[in-house]
Amino acid sequence: MSADLACWNIADLRRKAEARLPRGVWEYLERGVEDETGMGRNRAALDALTFVPRVARNVEQIDLSASLLGEQSALPFAIGPTGAAGLIHYNGDIALARAARAAGIPFTISSASTLNLEQIVAEAGRVCFQLYLWENRELSFDVVRRAQAAGCDTLFVTLDLPVPPNREYLSRNGFGIPFKPNRQNVADVLMHPRWLLGVIGQYMLREGKLPQQANLPPHLRHSIGKGGMPGAQFKQDNLDWDGIAELRDMWRGKMVVKGVLHPDDAVLAARYGLDAVIVSNHGGRALDYSIAAIDALPAVLDAAGERLDVWYDSGIRRGSDIAKALALGAKGVLIGRATLYGLAAGGEVGVARAIALLEQELRRTMAYLGVTSIEGLDRSVFSPARV
Ligand code: GLV
Repeated sequence: MSADLACWNIADLRRKAEARLPRGVWEYLERGVEDETGMGRNRAALDALTFVPRVARNVEQIDLSASLLGEQSALPFAIGPTGAAGLIHYNGDIALARAARAAGIPFTISSASTLNLEQIVAEAGRVCFQLYLWENRELSFDVVRRAQAAGCDTLFVTLDLPVPPNREYLSRNGFGIPFKPNRQNVADVLMHPRWLLGVIGQYMLREGKLPQQANLPPHLRHSIGKGGMPGAQFKQDNLDWDGIAELRDMWRGKMVVKGVLHPDDAVLAARYGLDAVIVSNHGGRALDYSIAAIDALPAVLDAAGERLDVWYDSGIRRGSDIAKALALGAKGVLIGRATLYGLAAGGEVGVARAIALLEQELRRTMAYLGVTSIEGLDRSVFSPARV
């Protein structure tokens, strides 16, 4: 751990991230949608779950390894897909992928990444690919085939944004796509020279251009400063289960849908041959008044039964949050903002710090609960009134 990264929890990394990033980039990473009630609801619901610790259980050896969709992982969590990594840090996706590889956990490439998926795979350990469909469905299929050829083992299809999310602050701060410069956001960028030189400056110096939506064919790539060309915009409003079936036929590895909150959707996912659903409200970034993701988890688990795995995503800031999701029955957990805070605070070292903090906190939580393996976490750890 480098000495200058004096961060002792994810909140410390978050504070450092906020100081490092221009306001518009920070807002993209941190904020929600509309009245932004979703993030608070996620936090409150996680906080409302309390444990009843056990004592004298010999917790000297705790094994945090877990089987994540059929493969052993050093930890029961993975880095989830986050599109803005390349704006938060120069080649941020590579820093995330390398830190995940070093920690022995999977990394998920986002469709919206600013690096070619092949470039990221080359630096990653176990790697998954997250899909948003583009307006041109054939284009999406090409990207899926590329991800398969490159060696991504699991396809995550994110379903909770059938239409683009309502992020009013991006219209206000000009940091949407296309970027709209104004006096305020230009001044803000100039006041963050470390970011300007260390991120944008590096792209200009090394590549002579701003980062692009890199997972498109060359003629459709557009810089993050400009809007997408016809066909190259994300568009999922016409996606239905037949579309999922088409992807299922095409993809040879494990396939998962992300953003499921209704138990009936888990039943459908099982019927369409998916391997897992990820219970998520997109970290409060999709439908503002969604149920807290952790509150949706038990019913989805009950509906899924033994037919498919259920993972959890949204609002993880402590190892105890991970323990709660796993103890309710999730088979794996995704981390989003927490590792992005690490990325902004210190690149690959910062991501490694975020992972290490979550690992230490999870291990400590399990020691208090008297549980020495991930399989040993179950609903008996909770206060009876709470679940
Ligand atoms: C995209 O998935 C986002 O949350 O910005």
